[in-house]
Amino acid sequence: MNILIAGYGKMGKIIETLAIERGHRIAAAVDPFYNGEKTASGALVFKDIAGLDRAGGATAIDVAVEFTRPDTAATNIKALAERRIPVVTGTTGWLAQLEEVSKAVNAAGSSLLWASNFSLGVNLFYRIAEFAAKLADPFPEYDVGGCEVHHNKKVDSPSGTAKTLVEKVLAQMTRKKTAVYDKLDRPPAADELHYASLRVGATPGVHSLTFDSPADTIEITHTARGREGLASGALTAAKWLAEGPGGKARQGVFTMDDVLESVL
Ligand SMILES: NC(=O)c1ccc[n+]([C@@H]2O[C@H](COP(=O)([O-])OP(=O)(O)OC[C@H]3O[C@@H](n4cnc5c(N)ncnc54)[C@H](O)[C@@H]3O)[C@@H](O)[C@H]2O)c1
Repeated sequence: MNILIAGYGKMGKIIETLAIERGHRIAAAVDPFYNGEKTASGALVFKDIAGLDRAGGATAIDVAVEFTRPDTAATNIKALAERRIPVVTGTTGWLAQLEEVSKAVNAAGSSLLWASNFSLGVNLFYRIAEFAAKLADPFPEYDVGGCEVHHNKKVDSPSGTAKTLVEKVLAQMTRKKTAVYDKLDRPPAADELHYASLRVGATPGVHSLTFDSPADTIEITHTARGREGLASGALTAAKWLAEGPGGKARQGVFTMDDVLESVL
């Protein structure tokens, strides 16, 4: 595949390395911070997508992999959709705009695949958590909550993974209705699920879910060892999106669940 890297930061760089290992080509990159420079594999970095247009580069791209910032992802996705470039985005913190962005993607006849976490392990963890929540629901003595830990450079909290995890758990439970991510100066209500965030050091990501009763505790935890698993999942998703049935790019808005479903 000819890949556009949108956001040549920590994730963008790992994705480039892995993409080359898998036999793909980096057609170009877009990142205002590296404007005019070249990526490790020699692709030109443009300031923005309009800059890529001026260089005539937008036509030779099969898929864009977007890992930028919460305040810029929606604009990037819409600009790529207008050019009918399928986008895989892992940027977190922009999902309040998902509905508006999805409309724009569908109106352009393009495609978007988003996931707050692309690692295979986390996506399996979501399913384990859903099953655990469903099992625990009839037993009110088991309260439910959790916490996540990330490195001290992360700009948003709670993590997008935590939000997705909590939404999936809430969807399986009748006695928990609302997520509370803030510091609490009161006991949580019985139908609230409290989920906390800690920012410290270099941790690539830990997500825990706890079922706690007067008698015992059941805990499930996903611990990431690094970013490679995330980059690998994003590339798998990019191939799934760009090479759909008949080798053509799929159209519409998808998540990592769709990729997993097609494997399962
Ligand atoms: N979904 C996942 O699996 C997953 C995994 C890791 C990180 N993330 C998320 O991905 C995002 C990026 O993470 P990171 O660790 O690579 O961050 P980073 O800060 O290392 O890199 C972000 C890059 O985006 C660039 N950028 C800023 N504005 C831009 C724009 N308008 N167009 C193009 N590039 C722009 C920055 O210059 C920077 O180089 C964050 O939101 C993070 O939470 C998601």
